[in-house]
Amino acid sequence: EKMTETKGRATAATHPLDPLTAEEISSAVEILRKERDLGEKVRFAGIVVNEPPKEQVLSFNLGDDFEREALVVLVDGEEEAAYEAVVSLGESMVESWERIEGDVQPPIVLEEFDECEEACKRNPEFQEALRKRGITDMDLVLVDPWSAGSYGDEEGRRLSRALTWVRLDPEDNAYAHPVDNLVTIVDLNKMEVVRVEDSGVVPVPQEKGNYGREDVGQMRTDLKPLEITQPEGTSFEVDGHEVRWQKWRFRISFTPREGLVLYTVSYNDDGRERPILYRAALSEMVVPYGDPRPAQWRKNAFDAGEYNIGALANSLELGCDCLGEIHYFDGVVSDGKGNPLTIKNAVCMHEEDYGLLWKHFDMRSEETEVRRSRRLVISFVATVANYEYGFFWYLYQDGTIEFEGKLSGIVSTGALPPGENTRHGQLLNDEGLYGPIHQHFLNFRLDMDVDGQENSVYEVNTEAVPPGEENPHGNAYYAKATQLETEADGGRNVNMQSVRYWRIVNESSQNRVGEPVAYKLVPKTNVLPFAQEDAQVSKRGGFASKHFWVTPYEPSERHAGGAYPNQSPGDDGLVRWVQQNRSVKDEDVVIWYTLGAHHPVRLEDWPVMPVEYAGFALKPEGFFDRNPALDVPRPGKNGHCS
Ligand code: NI
Repeated sequence: EKMTETKGRATAATHPLDPLTAEEISSAVEILRKERDLGEKVRFAGIVVNEPPKEQVLSFNLGDDFEREALVVLVDGEEEAAYEAVVSLGESMVESWERIEGDVQPPIVLEEFDECEEACKRNPEFQEALRKRGITDMDLVLVDPWSAGSYGDEEGRRLSRALTWVRLDPEDNAYAHPVDNLVTIVDLNKMEVVRVEDSGVVPVPQEKGNYGREDVGQMRTDLKPLEITQPEGTSFEVDGHEVRWQKWRFRISFTPREGLVLYTVSYNDDGRERPILYRAALSEMVVPYGDPRPAQWRKNAFDAGEYNIGALANSLELGCDCLGEIHYFDGVVSDGKGNPLTIKNAVCMHEEDYGLLWKHFDMRSEETEVRRSRRLVISFVATVANYEYGFFWYLYQDGTIEFEGKLSGIVSTGALPPGENTRHGQLLNDEGLYGPIHQHFLNFRLDMDVDGQENSVYEVNTEAVPPGEENPHGNAYYAKATQLETEADGGRNVNMQSVRYWRIVNESSQNRVGEPVAYKLVPKTNVLPFAQEDAQVSKRGGFASKHFWVTPYEPSERHAGGAYPNQSPGDDGLVRWVQQNRSVKDEDVVIWYTLGAHHPVRLEDWPVMPVEYAGFALKPEGFFDRNPALDVPRPGKNGHCS
């Protein structure tokens, strides 16, 4: 392949893993438009850098030439077809152009939110259904384009099963007023209503659910200022998309589908740059609802593959989402027309004091050694219609990497006929407003490179030794490691009784006691889906059926729900890939962790939900020869203790 000069190109990229710049997105679209004669009804549903092969990236030195390719997903509304294209930015040509096969659809893009709402509002049948419910002012109506799934009635069309809410005035929170029992099936290519499913009028709850300061009344007055100051600035350095903090070094990127991506995470151990993770990002999500009512049972958003959750990232503002000295990264995505769209301050990076790092008080000498923990926080927050998802990655001084999801926003609501209740949700007021029970499953693809690419995986369960010769006193137990040799050995679940975790080792790199160095994936809370195995959502969201999966590295295996989960029958993705039963022994392994959050709605979640947390950690286990954070200095004057 011909390499192109870095100089002379309209790009600010200095590294093969840099996200596409706005200029690169524009040229990719321009090249495509020229070569493929794209019509007016073409929508761009994702434009990202086509990541070069891993070997190329790992052998790259700053200043080397490198190729830039854009991977473009588009929907041709005229032709009712979707395509995946690779565009060479150096050669200014379309390298490949492939029709996306099967009854699947690329993600719903932001423009379709508005256009779908408009299509509903101009449809007489929809208007009539609303009139029956006493709603005549279309300006106050809100329509969310819920994904259609795959239930056999889609007829190959690009669809939404749109749900409706209504405001009482233009500033009102519409989610307080669900128009239940009404589903509008919209053809998103033709932008017309296919049919209106009206399962009978349920009165629209009228009580407002607003939460701004003007709606709350008296605000509490006893909160004194708490200032975070870093008079000497931050302890991290940023060079383009590369970050160095303490002994950590990594790159960040941002894609419309995944949001934040962490690359080449390594830790400098006494001058030795030790790789840990090649790539970490959200791979897919599914939010299955547990309510069988007509407008509720098909709710199960796949927010990455169906809605491009990264493209829905908020522009974060200083002093609110993040506190302290902050470095922001913009997220550069594209709109449906292919115009670059810069989400200003999409990613926030800052340091946080995290309490105690380690401590010991010597009772006899009365000497205390104590250190405070500092963590680096890299985060973004996305709004998917009613819901907010915060994606927070933490790096710690002791070698721990942690992910924490922060779930907030407004619960998806329904309405019950007056006087009725349901076991499938929580009543939120006495007008029938309720929040259906649901679950959130987030799958993370973690391409581990613990001290290099060849890794192996063990499951560790703590076992009590049966009474007898080996356990004469009845006290004996131990942590037992069992190797997962092939993919079929994966597909494992969290087990609180055996304190189960998974260890990713490099057999060719040993610690001071001659054991292979390792990182372990430590679950926190988790849950499994309650949907039946043969329910459609379980087929499409098969990755959620188990917490821990392992595969050998295969670059095309990126999204746990398959390349295109939108309207997919569920024949692609992790569950299918692992059937190859490839070896994961001394291979370049990728682990996939499904993080579940269970959400029986509470009254306290209304009208806006206090953050719910769910996460997991990657912790060194024999990766270092001792506590790697002994060299963190004592808190001094700036640490506010003496
Ligand atoms: Ni929830």
